[in-house]
Amino acid sequence: MKVPFLDLKAHHAPLAEEFDRAIREVIESSAFAGGPFVERFEEEFAEFCGASHAIGVGNGTDALWLALLALGIGEGDEVITVPNTFIATVEAIAYCKARPVFVDVDEETFTMDPAELEKSLTERTKAIIPVHLFGQPADMDPILEFARAHGLFVIEDAAQAHGAEYKSRRAGTMGDAGCFSFYPGKNLGAFGEAGAVITNDRQLREQIQVLRDHGQPQKYYHTLMGWNCRMDGIQAAVLSTKLPHLNEANLLRRKHALAYNQAFTAIDGVRTPFEARYARHVYHVYAIRVQERDAVRRHLQEKGVGCAVHYPVPIHLQEACRSLGYEKGAFPIAESLAEEFLSLPMFPELTAEQIESVACCIGDVIGVGALV
Ligand SMILES: Cc1ncc(COP(=O)(O)O)c(C=O)c1O
Repeated sequence: MKVPFLDLKAHHAPLAEEFDRAIREVIESSAFAGGPFVERFEEEFAEFCGASHAIGVGNGTDALWLALLALGIGEGDEVITVPNTFIATVEAIAYCKARPVFVDVDEETFTMDPAELEKSLTERTKAIIPVHLFGQPADMDPILEFARAHGLFVIEDAAQAHGAEYKSRRAGTMGDAGCFSFYPGKNLGAFGEAGAVITNDRQLREQIQVLRDHGQPQKYYHTLMGWNCRMDGIQAAVLSTKLPHLNEANLLRRKHALAYNQAFTAIDGVRTPFEARYARHVYHVYAIRVQERDAVRRHLQEKGVGCAVHYPVPIHLQEACRSLGYEKGAFPIAESLAEEFLSLPMFPELTAEQIESVACCIGDVIGVGALV
C-alpha cells in the first residue's frame, strides 16, 4: 500500500467551502497585508495558547528573529540552543549578530538537556532557546529556573508544537516569548508562509509589532530600523478557519502515534518515540530510531511509503556553522539521533490500515535482514 508522508489535500478537503468564503472576504475587503484578519487571528491564537498577546509575522524564522531583536539580543551576546533543530533557530541568533552556543539533548525526549546548561554559560550568555522538537515540549521548569538564576531570557521555539503542553501549560507560554511557524505542513499550517510570536509582556508585544512593520508605530513615522515581517490577510483568514479544528487534529495525531507504538512492539530494532510524563506531545513528527536507517528508508521509498529524516546533519556540523568551531563528537546524543531518526507518515487523516502497512513494511526489511 502506498502511504504519503503528508496529505494536505485530505486535510483541507472538508473545509473547502469555508476556505473559499474566508479568502473571498479578504479579497472583498482588500486587507491583504496585516489588517483586521491578522488582528482577529492574533486574538484567537493567543486565546488558544493561553497567552495575553500574539503577533502575526511572515514565518517562523521571522518570529524567532524578531523576538530576539525585541529582547535586545545583539552583537557580542551568546544564545544557548540545541544542535538537533531546523536551521532557522540558529539563523535567527546569527541574524541578530549574536553567537549560537549549543548544548546536547536528552536521549529520551530529544529536547534540551537542562543539566548541560551550566557548562555553556559565560558572562556573554543572554538567552536560551529550547526547541519543542517534533511536538514534545522541552523540560521547561529546570530551564526556566536556570534562566532566572542567571538573568537570561527564554524564547521557546514552538514551531513544531502548536497545542502541545508541559504540565498543562501550552507550549510557547512559559518563556518570555514563544515562536510559531505556520508553514503549510505544520500542525496548524497556512496556505503559504506565516508565523507568530506569543508573549504575556505588553511591552515586548509592542516592540515586535513595530519591528515587523518597518519600525513604524504610526504610518510613515519610523522610531527605529525595522523590517517587513507582516503576516498576510489571506494567511490569517485561512489560519482562523483551521484553528477551531486543531485540537481534534492533534488528538488524532496522538491516536496514530499510539497505534504505531503498538504495531512496533512486535518488531525488534525499532525504538519508538517517548512521551515524557510532563508532556502532552502533539506529534508534528513521528520519528522512530533504527540502525541502518538509510537502508530502511530506501526500502520504504521503493514500496511507496513517504518518509523523511529530521535532520540528517546536526546544526553544529553544518557547513554554515563551521566558523563556530565545533567538531564531530561535540554532542554525541544529537549526532547519534541524526544517524538513526526516521520520520514516518503522520497526519490526522492517516488510517489504521496505512499505519499497519507502514509498520509491516519496516518489519519486513528489518526482519529478513535485507539491510545491506
Ligand atoms: C524548529 C523550527 N524552528 C523554526 C522554523 C522556521 O519556521 P518557518 O519555516 O516558518 O520560517 C521551523 C520550520 O520548519 C522549525 O521546524
